[in-house]
Amino acid sequence: MKTDTKNKFQNAKVVVVGATGGIGSAFVKKIKQLDTNNIVIEIVRKKTQDHQIEVDMLDEESMAKCAQDIQKQYGTIDIILNTVGLLHSDGAMPERAYKEINQDFLQKTFEANTFIPFMVSKYFVPLLSKENTSLIAFMSARIGSISDNNLGGWYSYRASKAALNMLIKTLSIELSYKNKNAICIGLHPGTVKTNLSDPFSEKIKAYKVFSKEESIDYLIEQINRVDHTFSGKLIDWKGDIIPY
Ligand SMILES: NC(=O)c1ccc[n+]([C@@H]2O[C@H](COP(=O)([O-])OP(=O)(O)OC[C@H]3O[C@@H](n4cnc5c(N)ncnc54)[C@H](OP(=O)(O)O)[C@@H]3O)[C@@H](O)[C@H]2O)c1
Repeated sequence: MKTDTKNKFQNAKVVVVGATGGIGSAFVKKIKQLDTNNIVIEIVRKKTQDHQIEVDMLDEESMAKCAQDIQKQYGTIDIILNTVGLLHSDGAMPERAYKEINQDFLQKTFEANTFIPFMVSKYFVPLLSKENTSLIAFMSARIGSISDNNLGGWYSYRASKAALNMLIKTLSIELSYKNKNAICIGLHPGTVKTNLSDPFSEKIKAYKVFSKEESIDYLIEQINRVDHTFSGKLIDWKGDIIPY
């Protein structure tokens, strides 16, 4: 595997979208620890801390204004991490069978896992630095791989992450000629103990389950090692490429 040993989290301006989530908040904490000169801009749907920027991520005008404000205050950005995602909502659980498909749940799942990454791409990618190596990473999931689907079930989550994977690939192609310094990747964080995985804590006991901090350490390692040859790929926590 070709490696880039440069530490991307030094003196970096980083946007974390979904900074109140398990993985998002752990990224924020770690990036601040890695270098006190790092600037972390936290985008959330509901503020829990004053410095966070609250925005309706499904509203184009709000996203456009948010991006404009960031550009005015910080100029270009080095790294964008999209950590928004949804597996279950208000008691609605991922489908075990096609008869459980529900349009409202399907809509909410696609909004979080697919539409918001589309909005992040449209409004935040123009902020990526063209002078230095820059990177946008989307939290995807192994479960969104069509070739890896041997178990079935979880229709909405799987399909919404598969669509996200297509966004990642397509965006990487456009960036390859519009901003050659920008890398675009999907990341699979492993199975991580957060609100998202909480209802399945009994079932996932059989698997390797990471704390948020462990997963973030692996993901930072992967972000640091990738160069342009990884753009458009889905990479897991240990650095393996997951085929789409
Ligand atoms: N945990 C795992 O085992 C695992 C495995 C594979 C992939 N992933 C992926 O990793 C990412 C982060 O997951 P997590 O485990 O950190 O989950 P989490 O703790 O539930 O965090 C999810 C984040 O998404 C935000 N969000 C959800 N719907 C939204 C919407 N409609 N508008 C705006 N924000 C919305 C949440 O905001 P609030 O804080 O306001 O609720 C929260 O910040 C997701 O994309 C997930 O699919 C996780």
